[in-house]
Amino acid sequence: MSAVVQPAASLGARRVHSVRRVGLSRQAVVVRAVTAEQAPSTTAQPYGRVFNFSAGPAVLPVEVLEQAQADLLNWQGSGMSVMEMSHRGKEFQSIIDGAEADLRALLAIPDNYQVLFMQGGASSQFSAIPLNLSAEGDTLDYIVTGSWSKKAAGEAKKYGKVNVVATGDNKSVPDPSSWKLSPDAKYVHYCDNETIQGVEFKAPPVVGDKVLVADMSSNFCSKPVDVSKYGLIYAGAQKNIGPAGVTIVIVRDDLIGNSRPSTPVMLDYKVQADDKSMYNTPPCWAIYMCGLVFAKMRRDGGLAAVQQANEKKAKVLYDAIAGSNGFYSSPVDAAARSMMNVPFTIPANADLEKEFVSQAAKHSMIQLKGHRSVGGMRASIYNSMPLDGVQQLANFMKEFAVNSA
Ligand SMILES: Cc1ncc(COP(=O)(O)O)c(C=O)c1O
Repeated sequence: MSAVVQPAASLGARRVHSVRRVGLSRQAVVVRAVTAEQAPSTTAQPYGRVFNFSAGPAVLPVEVLEQAQADLLNWQGSGMSVMEMSHRGKEFQSIIDGAEADLRALLAIPDNYQVLFMQGGASSQFSAIPLNLSAEGDTLDYIVTGSWSKKAAGEAKKYGKVNVVATGDNKSVPDPSSWKLSPDAKYVHYCDNETIQGVEFKAPPVVGDKVLVADMSSNFCSKPVDVSKYGLIYAGAQKNIGPAGVTIVIVRDDLIGNSRPSTPVMLDYKVQADDKSMYNTPPCWAIYMCGLVFAKMRRDGGLAAVQQANEKKAKVLYDAIAGSNGFYSSPVDAAARSMMNVPFTIPANADLEKEFVSQAAKHSMIQLKGHRSVGGMRASIYNSMPLDGVQQLANFMKEFAVNSA
């Protein structure tokens, strides 16, 4: 640990407002001084943690981090950490089995779906999906509502005839009556929540008897989902359910086993399903962390409870925008506003946006800058962001607006 260990008194001329414990080493309590100028205006968080509004990798529950800390040197009496154990051993087998069982229970995943723990991020699925679900020359339907679905469609063009069903305006879901679904598409791909634009589908798109494929990277496990409506759901873990390194793929049995001969073995759903996600060494630590998060979600009442908490948080933030007399603005139409990623701007004076982000950081609210491609601000309020954090942000927004008037 690189933090300097020193008594608060030795900090001399710097005005010491408080000293927070940020970590324990065997020899010493490591402390970080917080000056009055840097002090948050409201509640301090445990371990000197900040409210982290990052779009991903993102905040994880303190309870889960504490469990990981407790397990770190010796997982359940095994004498080793999860990072050190063989993926072929009974210890890790119990970890991955437990993670899958909890995820199946959370989402009520039907038995005719496989759960795969894959690598390469959600971006690898942009290629894996056409490679597994279509043959050369097939038509592939893509609904484009923002940056990520556009990227997915762009990658799919390497593998098939992409038909863009509809292109959104980055602030709404295009009216289904305008969609041009192809009669012979092998599947219809869409992004359930566009992380950058903050555009979210409120119900799965209706695509008749077509195979529906969803990128749920940034709203996975944020609400109950009827998995049976989908052929395939995929999500990178690093936003709502764990650290980067593992990508969850939930895929219906009949879509497995038809990959193109050129499919890289690591992207082949049949190989991954037959080998129970252990064709090679899986991302053991990331799977273990997701397992801890899934178990916590079950203890906390499952996805209905998660959704309720998320709706409450989103309302606090959208109300703060709506109640600002136009000082803040949401670029997204009310019907498509994301419960997870909330972009907002200061329309009358965009120069203030930089100042907003910098002052918020001084109040322990970080990563509020909008994505570089769209600018403005963005608060990502995933499952593990506490209500306190969102309320603190809403209070800060109010204060900032008053002070900037
Ligand atoms: C909706 C969505 N899809 C795909 C990705 C790409 O994920 P990864 O970085 O795991 O490849 C992201 C990353 O932010 C995302 O938000």
